[in-house]
Amino acid sequence: MDIIEALRSRKSIRGYKPDQVPKEILKEILEIASRSPSAKNAQPWEITVVAGEVLEQIKRGNLEMLASGAIPNPDVPYKDFHGVYKGRQVALAIQLFELMGIDRKDRDKRAAWNQRGLRFFDAPAAIILTADISLDESATQFDLGIITHAICLAALNYGLGTCINWQAIMYPEVVRRFTGIPKSKRITMSIAIGYPNWDFPANKLESKREPVESITSWYGFD
Ligand SMILES: Cc1cc2nc3c(=O)[nH]c(=O)nc-3n(C[C@H](O)[C@H](O)[C@H](O)COP(=O)(O)O)c2cc1C
Repeated sequence: MDIIEALRSRKSIRGYKPDQVPKEILKEILEIASRSPSAKNAQPWEITVVAGEVLEQIKRGNLEMLASGAIPNPDVPYKDFHGVYKGRQVALAIQLFELMGIDRKDRDKRAAWNQRGLRFFDAPAAIILTADISLDESATQFDLGIITHAICLAALNYGLGTCINWQAIMYPEVVRRFTGIPKSKRITMSIAIGYPNWDFPANKLESKREPVESITSWYGFD
């Protein structure tokens, strides 16, 4: 797939077909994505791929934690957004809830939607990105972000969809329990991956972007 087409067409996929993704394809995607640049070529990313029963165990574990009222304790916490950033978050939620027919006041449907995120959107596989805790967190985040996007773009070439997914790693002890990822590795992000179910309403979402003119300053041009 053409790089421009990939960049333009990638979108978060939150509904998948049950079809398994062959391990060889996932390996090929990771090989391609591992060509990503990193500061000083340190390649701080470490990758864990889960499917089948292990993925099911993590999904169940996440839901049990949620139901127990456990406070999420992610290795990489995200602060609440404010101002214009919060506004964009709300705009996304409005779009998503409208497509999914979720009324803002409907607590049960909202809770069910949240649970879907904790279940990796029922994708048949998930990629978990970790980095050694000895590494500087912010620099490492940057490098892991680059490879994350590369994975999402490369996946398109194989007819696969992805959703970068923070919700599913909110309880890192669950992920550790079923994968053996040690505490010395920071669980930084996960990516749900699988064949998109294009009939799933949320997959029709076209998320908004600010125009380039409002995010860019130009100097030295005519
Ligand atoms: C770091 C990061 C974490 C994300 N975590 C979640 C998540 O937990 N749940 C979710 O539904 N989407 C998640 N997303 C997807 C974003 O909501 C999505 O990328 C954004 O709304 C833009 O939409 P698009 O990916 O369709 O272009 C995450 C994206 C990023 C980059």
